[in-house]
Amino acid sequence: MSDSLKVLVLHGPNLNLLGTRQPDIYGRETLADINAALTRRADAAGVTLDHQQSNHEGELIDAIQAARTDGTAAIIINPAAYTHTSVAILDALNAFDGTVIEVHLSNVHKREAFRQHSYVSLRADGVIAGLGSQGYHAALDAVVAARAG
Ligand code: DQA
Repeated sequence: MSDSLKVLVLHGPNLNLLGTRQPDIYGRETLADINAALTRRADAAGVTLDHQQSNHEGELIDAIQAARTDGTAAIIINPAAYTHTSVAILDALNAFDGTVIEVHLSNVHKREAFRQHSYVSLRADGVIAGLGSQGYHAALDAVVAARAG
């Protein structure tokens, strides 16, 4: 397993409520459902996944900082509302050398104007929005394909 690809999946605030939070926008799958399906896909691809969710900006930053030195090759991040507000998360990601993929369940570009700006996109190598939980799968596939590259 020493050469297995290590990927951190980071979920931001309120994503712990998936399944019951505005299901018309975010779907009926829970975060546990999403993580379990993604883990199955990762296992099949020989990828080691670490999932973390936090409602706290500083905890997300701590997780990104830890990823700089623990062998993490890529971060798949749904920063949720911090997408649109957090220079601090952008700065943390700028200090991470690996691949960064930004994922949004909803298509933020057809929602309120304030959702159409992302600080994280200034760093992200790829951005996926509007595919629901499939967006995480597409992100993982992209990370694996980039390594195979
Ligand atoms: C979100 C979109 C954000 O604008 C929102 O604040 C979220 C979730 C998404 O996954 O569609 O919490 O990141």
